[in-house]
Amino acid sequence: MKHIDIIDILNDSGLINSTVTVCGWVRTSRDSKNMAFIELNDGTSLKHLQIVIDKACMSDISQYMKLGTSLKVTGTLVKSAVAVDSVEINAQEITVLGECPLEYPLQKKRHTLEYLRTIPHLRVRTNTFNAVFRVRSVVSNAIHEFFQSRNFTYIHTPLITASDCEGAGEMFKVTTIGYSENYKNEEEYNADDFFGKKAALSVSGQLEGEVAAMALGKIYTFGPSFRAEKSNTPRHVAEFWHVEPEVAFAELPDIIEIAEDLIKAIINAVLEKCPEEMKFFNQFMEKGLIEKLQNVVNNDFAVMTYTEAIDHLKKADKDFQYPVEWGCDLMTEHEKYISEEVCKKPVFITDYPKEIKSFYMKQNPDGKTVAATDLLVPGVGEIIGCSEREADLDKLLEAMKVRGMSVEEYEHYIALRKFGSVPHSGFGLGLERIILYVTGMQNIRDVILYPRTVGNIY
Ligand code: 4AD
Repeated sequence: MKHIDIIDILNDSGLINSTVTVCGWVRTSRDSKNMAFIELNDGTSLKHLQIVIDKACMSDISQYMKLGTSLKVTGTLVKSAVAVDSVEINAQEITVLGECPLEYPLQKKRHTLEYLRTIPHLRVRTNTFNAVFRVRSVVSNAIHEFFQSRNFTYIHTPLITASDCEGAGEMFKVTTIGYSENYKNEEEYNADDFFGKKAALSVSGQLEGEVAAMALGKIYTFGPSFRAEKSNTPRHVAEFWHVEPEVAFAELPDIIEIAEDLIKAIINAVLEKCPEEMKFFNQFMEKGLIEKLQNVVNNDFAVMTYTEAIDHLKKADKDFQYPVEWGCDLMTEHEKYISEEVCKKPVFITDYPKEIKSFYMKQNPDGKTVAATDLLVPGVGEIIGCSEREADLDKLLEAMKVRGMSVEEYEHYIALRKFGSVPHSGFGLGLERIILYVTGMQNIRDVILYPRTVGNIY
């Protein structure tokens, strides 16, 4: 179907006074005595294009006016009669591509985000979701550009796994058969299943990413991870997109630098490539958003040890629901306090107690902590989980033993420490979490096309 994208029409003043064809959906329409006006949107821009109809030249125009109707419009592109710096089409020919009856749910100008969640197949046609998904696309591209321009190789790690990675989260089992009473035990049941052993959807591509990094040096993965946690919060989904770089010859400070640079590159890309969308979010989702992001790219992130964070929390004039003691996991309320009230900017919390972190993290010389860091940002909380990996075979085996882990299941992973082991580090960034941060959206369900959460699958 020959036509021009509305974004190109809006950006190319050379098209003025020429005949153009556009396609799109009717967002709003207005009828007056002699003229009718349609705001058309084709999803390439947040801005709509005005179609002007001279009623003397066209009959039966009511079929074009219903919200949601899809149209093909040919006409002359002219400077707008009223809006400065804008253009409109004086329609010569209009074709209805698809009618839209009045039961179309998006009749009102503004619906609540909660209501829109009940119509995921249509909510993308609202300004908010149009903007969210365009930003999501630009962020994804910025991530690839960041790594590709720094000699990282993009690796696709398996989504079906036989290891539970690190106990990063509850896993979804992958099976083709149901358990039946005929099996003597779980082992026999697993042996009869598709892979001949227990399999699940991966919670992280890290362990396989480390395999690749031990040959390619610098790699990143970017794909879905699955977690069957029953955390019904505005920050958790069961299926999220996970960016996981893994870097050989890198210690914790090196990977922290990469993580900070990546976040800044993402923000710069969004500010540069999505000015309209960011203006929209700044106005409707988070006042001061653009200024906040500009401050983030122009300043260093804070770095604070876990021990210092605990000191701040203990001294805080606040009643936390979860008590604070050295050794405790930081809960959302603690993370919020540190990033929003103490640092007031993104902060890397480093050197967590080894007991609350994963087996693969490098053990610090103090014998109590590991070289791990979480990046916390105001408003969202943790967006990155990061660590230097334990490169010493004996220490790794010891950490696994303490956790009662099976050495056979991690045979390949362990072998990496035998054959030319090197210091290496990596992190995981949740795509939806960084999108929350850059858009000011409040709920993770609103930055992914079809959110999968506990008790909810459309
Ligand atoms: O901190 P996590 O669990 O770290 C890992 O999975 C490591 N293996 C990463 C690595 O070192 N390669 O998860 C990393 C990030 C979190 O900071 C968060 O942004 C995101 O993944 N994340 C989730 N996002 C949405 N919903 C969930 N249920 C998430 N769980 C983790």
